[in-house]
Amino acid sequence: MPRKKIAAGNWKMNLSPNEGVKLTMNLIQGNRDPKTHVILAVPATHLSQIQDKLKYVSKIEVAAQNCHQKESGAFTGEISAPMLNSMGVKYVLVGHSERREYFGESNALLKEKIDIALKNKLKVIFCCGESLDIRKKKAHVKHVQKQLKESLLHLTAAQMKDVVIAYEPIWAIGTGETASPQQAQEMHLAIRKSLKKKYKSTADNVSILYGGSVKPANAKELFAMPDIDGGLVGGASLDAKGFGEIINSF
Ligand code: PGA
Repeated sequence: MPRKKIAAGNWKMNLSPNEGVKLTMNLIQGNRDPKTHVILAVPATHLSQIQDKLKYVSKIEVAAQNCHQKESGAFTGEISAPMLNSMGVKYVLVGHSERREYFGESNALLKEKIDIALKNKLKVIFCCGESLDIRKKKAHVKHVQKQLKESLLHLTAAQMKDVVIAYEPIWAIGTGETASPQQAQEMHLAIRKSLKKKYKSTADNVSILYGGSVKPANAKELFAMPDIDGGLVGGASLDAKGFGEIINSF
């Protein structure tokens, strides 16, 4: 089975629900490569409205941007995996660098979130990536391998089938600076090798996305690399025309 080609948009904390619906409708009505799987990671407040618009649309799915590591309890302001599942949400982002940086999410905590998400039938988009400092020290591959080892590699091969990995170098997120296709491919191959060691042929079916200033102008050359199976797109996913071009860049 060939790996899924995925264009995932991460709206972060942007757009009103109405603006989100408008953007979604534009994407639905636009010309889309039917081979590309589109995932929209939208704010929790928008999930049900956007889901509703996508009810009869194939290959566009909704993701939550986060979930709590416990299934229920006294955690004011948080959202649980069972809640997302009961709404019909299919995916959840885990470990975005903004969650790691601003909300202190550690590899150990992310491991708990991954387990609770999978237990509740949510597919996980696991984000990893290094800071500029780490890259300058040439420790980037080791850093990402550690993130994988401490959060993800305890899963069984059957569980890995419900995981997508997004490599997002922090220095490229929202900065306009993109990793070169070669830099990204180097890391994606290293990630695939780490997966292969444990999961053998299952590793060939895991989609690995690149994230960090993906835009219409650079998506084609990134997605052409053998181990890059798509993108996790922040800023450029807020514009239907531009994101549409990214969707059609495979
Ligand atoms: P960006 O964000 O495309 O705006 O760099 C990517 C991300 O944070 O997922």
